[in-house]
Amino acid sequence: MKKNKPKLAIVGAGKMGEAVISGLLKSGEYKPQDIQVFEIIESRSKYMSQTYNVKCVDNAKKAASFAGITIIAVKPGDVKKALEQIAPAMKTGKIVVSIAAGVTLEFLRKYLPKDVPVVRVMPNITCQVREAMIAVCPSENTKKEELETVIGTLSLLGRVITLDEKYLNLATGLVGSGPAYIYLIIEALADAGVRLGLPKDVSILLAAQTTLGAAKMVVETSEHPTKLKDMVTTPAGTTIEGLLALEEGKLRAVIINAVTKAAERAKQLQPV
Ligand SMILES: NC(=O)c1ccc[n+]([C@@H]2O[C@H](COP(=O)([O-])OP(=O)(O)OC[C@H]3O[C@@H](n4cnc5c(N)ncnc54)[C@H](OP(=O)(O)O)[C@@H]3O)[C@@H](O)[C@H]2O)c1
Repeated sequence: MKKNKPKLAIVGAGKMGEAVISGLLKSGEYKPQDIQVFEIIESRSKYMSQTYNVKCVDNAKKAASFAGITIIAVKPGDVKKALEQIAPAMKTGKIVVSIAAGVTLEFLRKYLPKDVPVVRVMPNITCQVREAMIAVCPSENTKKEELETVIGTLSLLGRVITLDEKYLNLATGLVGSGPAYIYLIIEALADAGVRLGLPKDVSILLAAQTTLGAAKMVVETSEHPTKLKDMVTTPAGTTIEGLLALEEGKLRAVIINAVTKAAERAKQLQPV
């Protein structure tokens, strides 16, 4: 992490806001006093200050005044209101980051003073364990150093990639929703273990760690998944029997369809 660590405001401390805060504090680079939160639900706000020791303020403008980077983590339909609340605090040097699915840079900039740099981001819930995939796209008025500042902070939560905005909704289908698909697959693998007679807790661990290991092989070796799959698939062995069943069940088509549907849905979330 670079020397000029920006203070952060989180507007909306739901599932994603919490995952971001939790991941940043786990990184050790951010301390509770570096983060201020505005969350509309009082009980949730209390939970955040009690659990993470962060300061929860009573309006979004206060949090944004404190911070160098304000992260908008409310539902897409609430983004406009959140932007209107922080807009008066947006002095020179401050950056807005939005993680809202489907909400375009054009929409985000409409409710902020025109010089404010805005970065549209698509992360996922695994920010919590600092293993997120995070796609980012800066507005055209964002300076290189401002984008680097944002990437520096987000990199504490996982792996960051800069994408053209036309890819952001597509990335939402894969990155934002992806963990849910993997959880379903882990659950199915674990159910299979149970069917064969393994205890449920053992089965879940076997499924989850196998998934983690397989993903790590792809990321760390940079080998094509097909090559890695071939390494596990011996002629007339066990794996090819399983792969045949997966192909008969059209798993590949089902997954392609799932990601496509989620990306289409992201497009519809743009508020009017
Ligand atoms: N969940 C994911 O896996 C995921 C992944 C990638 C991106 N995202 C994006 O992240 C954003 C947040 O998602 P989430 O799942 O964390 O939603 P969430 O759990 O509903 O959290 C949003 C929180 O913000 C509160 N809120 C609403 N308006 C507010 C305002 N003006 N100021 C402060 N707080 C306000 C909400 O209260 P109310 O419930 O009363 O509205 C809620 O507690 C969404 O835009 C979503 O598209 C989510």
